[in-house]
Amino acid sequence: MNQQLLEKLLGPHKVVAVMGGQWGDEGKGKIVDLFSGWAQVVARGNGGANAGHTIQVDGKQLVLHLVPSGIKHDKDGVTNVCGSGMVIDPRALLEELAMLTREGVSYNHLQLSHNATLVLPQHVLLDRLREQKAGGGKIGTTGRGIGPAYADKVGRIALRVNDLLNPDIFVEKLKKATVEHSRLLKGFDPEAVEKLAKELYPGLAGTGGEPFSFSYLIQSYLEMGKRLAPHIANSDFLMGVCKEGGARVLLEGAQGRLLGIEGGTYPHVTASDCSLAGLARGVGLRESDVEQSFVVAKAFYMTRVGAGQFPTEFGRTTIGRQSEEWCNSGEVTRETERESFPDACVNSADEFAQGVAIRQAGNEYGATTGRPRRTGWLDLVLLKHVLNDTPNAKLILTKLDVLDSCKTIKLATRHVYNGHDYRRANDLVRAGDALAEAVMDGAYLHYCHPEYEEYPGWLTPLGCLKVAEELPKELLTLIGRVEEFTKTKAAAISVGPERNQTIAL
Ligand code: IMP
Repeated sequence: MNQQLLEKLLGPHKVVAVMGGQWGDEGKGKIVDLFSGWAQVVARGNGGANAGHTIQVDGKQLVLHLVPSGIKHDKDGVTNVCGSGMVIDPRALLEELAMLTREGVSYNHLQLSHNATLVLPQHVLLDRLREQKAGGGKIGTTGRGIGPAYADKVGRIALRVNDLLNPDIFVEKLKKATVEHSRLLKGFDPEAVEKLAKELYPGLAGTGGEPFSFSYLIQSYLEMGKRLAPHIANSDFLMGVCKEGGARVLLEGAQGRLLGIEGGTYPHVTASDCSLAGLARGVGLRESDVEQSFVVAKAFYMTRVGAGQFPTEFGRTTIGRQSEEWCNSGEVTRETERESFPDACVNSADEFAQGVAIRQAGNEYGATTGRPRRTGWLDLVLLKHVLNDTPNAKLILTKLDVLDSCKTIKLATRHVYNGHDYRRANDLVRAGDALAEAVMDGAYLHYCHPEYEEYPGWLTPLGCLKVAEELPKELLTLIGRVEEFTKTKAAAISVGPERNQTIAL
């Protein structure tokens, strides 16, 4: 069954990419896991331990942050690559590798690009301290040091994985970067810096006002480098060899296109390029090397973690930012939410309660942070923007079973702007204008409300269906509308977490 599906979707291709079409958490992990049964190499090219990719292994859930989702196939000889575009926290990686060992998953063929950027404890501190200080201007980051690590890369003071193998170079570069980090950390309350450093890195505390002991930092990183050394490789070179030799390569995107530093809902984005071009570059390939890209999108709802504009969010249009504030309060968990809203229903007339119910039905709580994900209807204006920007893309719609009991399903097809006059290059947008085209500026999207088309739900469990011919007509109408609006073919749908709950269309 899986073999037929892979044949139908991947056919004769050699280099295939799977990327997120929304704000992350689209269910890419499951698709990559499924496709990695076809691949000889699975490579990640962007992001770091901010990602949380959930895959099912023998009925058990495995949450991966840095290691590519093809790791389950390591035992069959599949090579998994953490590419040069990634930012790697060695401590987080070693913890993940220890978890794999506990779960009986091998990682013998794992390769870590020697050119990937290193995440240092200072990056994690800066990330968290900035967020603490930002008040209402928070990005809602995952606190994994991602933004500061990429900032160092662009600022040309970053350390790279290869430096772990060259102690002298490592120390020299670390000294230079530390000057800059110390200057930045001086902008925060010294007590807050010290407290956080002790909490996160108990063994690394420094003296004389420095959050870290320099010598201990060197010692701990070089020691971790020794443990990772067998995996450090020139993976860009390997990818070139794969391309020349016609090996089957699967690129795994992290986060989602709307979170990308290029073309995302700026400034509420992550720091890496989540586009196909960014993903390909991040593993040492070119965008044009990718023969088929699959953009994964949840349907017919979507989610977002952290702060930032979300025009179709449940409980936004009528009651201000209730959902965003609730989800980002830091106090809500899966359990407390269930106690607070025992009667929440996916058909509730109260949008906020409907959003809570869909979050519960879809188990939409962060794999990395446990935070509740904000929920809203599928925004076709944003999806079309993503697909227009991704060459040769096909869609994979996921988590369809979550809305099995939803009586009415809404698709957003225009953004109605209701702010002050907004100049976009040479165009002027005025209050009341409705655009079917996305404007990727948070300051603009803040004033956008969706215009919806409404469709009847299918009201039948999808999880047990196996082939396209069995799909209810209401569902086919919705899929057809998505295809028509975005001008993109839907290649498959996912109707449950298991591999065999994937249907090719
Ligand atoms: P950062 O990547 O930790 O800097 O966080 C920046 C924004 O991206 C925040 O809104 C995060 O919630 C979001 N983000 C980062 N990684 C993921 C992910 O894997 N899934 C969903 N959201 C993410």
